[in-house]
Amino acid sequence: MAVYDVNLADGLLHILYGVVGAGTTQLTSFSPGEEMLCVGPLGRAFDLVPDTRHLVLLGRGIGICSLTLLAKQAKLIGVPVTAISSSRSPDSAIGSDLYRAHGVHVREVYDSDGSSHVQRLYDDLERTMPQEQSTLIAVCGSRRLLQMAGNLARSRGAQIQVSLEAHMACGLGYCHGCATGERSATDESPLICQDGPAFSYVVQETTTSSRFQASVSPSRSSPQSRSATG
Ligand SMILES: Cc1cc2nc3c(=O)[nH]c(=O)nc-3n(C[C@H](O)[C@H](O)[C@H](O)COP(=O)(O)OP(=O)(O)OC[C@H]3O[C@@H](n4cnc5c(N)ncnc54)[C@H](O)[C@@H]3O)c2cc1C
Ligand code: FES
Repeated sequence: MAVYDVNLADGLLHILYGVVGAGTTQLTSFSPGEEMLCVGPLGRAFDLVPDTRHLVLLGRGIGICSLTLLAKQAKLIGVPVTAISSSRSPDSAIGSDLYRAHGVHVREVYDSDGSSHVQRLYDDLERTMPQEQSTLIAVCGSRRLLQMAGNLARSRGAQIQVSLEAHMACGLGYCHGCATGERSATDESPLICQDGPAFSYVVQETTTSSRFQASVSPSRSSPQSRSATG
C-alpha cells in the first residue's frame, strides 16, 4: 500500500493497495464519495536532494507504487529518471502506465523469463549508470535489489534511499513495534513509521557492511512530497 500519485489541481491523493487480508478487503467495500478518517502525513518521504542529477528507481512488486510519485517529482524539476520494475510475470507488473505518463523510461523485468536476475541487472546498470555521487538510487520492495544498489554504490558512487515496510500498530512512534533493528547514534533503533519509511542507506566503500540512517528531510513532510510503503 502506498501513495501512488498526488494531483494538487484536483486535490486528489491516489493510494494503491493489493487486496491481501481482511483490512484491505474492507477497503474495497468503500464507494466513491464515502468518507474515511485518515491520520497523516506521518514519517519521512524519499528526499530528492537538490544536487541529484540522475535518479534510478529500483522497485519490485507492490513496492513499485512507492516510487512513482518520486519519479513525477524528479521529472517536474528536469532530473532524468531510469526506472526498473521487477515482478513475477508480465501480468503482475504495475506502475508502468504512470511512469510513462510522467515521461519516465521504464524497463520491466520478470522472474518468468529470467530478466529479473539480479546479477544481470547489476551488469547492465554497472555499464550504463553515470559514475557520480549525484546519482540517487531509490529502492522499494526487494532486499536483493537493495543489496544490488549497495554494490552499485560501491562501484559507481551513488547515494541510496530505501523505503522499508513494516506492520504498524500506532504509526506515531509510541509502540516501537516497527523498529528496523539497526544500531543508531542514540539507544533507539530507527522506527520505520517515524524515522522512515524512507531511509538513507549508507554503504561502507571497503566492506560489505551498510546501515539505515534517517534522511535529512523534515520529520513531517508535506502531503505533496509524501510517499510511503506498505
Ligand atoms: C503489536 C501490534 C499491535 C496492534 N494493535 C492494533 C490495535 O490495537 N488496533 C488496530 O486496529 N490495529 C492494530 N494493529 C495493526 C493490525 O494488526 C494490522 O493493521 C492488521 O494485522 C493488518 O491486517 P489486515 O487484515 O487489516 O490487512 P491486510 O489486508 O492483511 O494487509 C495487507 C497489506 O496492507 C498493509 N497494511 C495493513 N495493515 C498495516 C499496518 N497496520 N501497517 C502497515 N501496513 C499495513 C500492508 O502492506 C499489508 O501487506 C497492531 C499491529 C501490531 C504489530
Ligand atoms: S508503529 Fe508504533 S512506533 Fe512505529
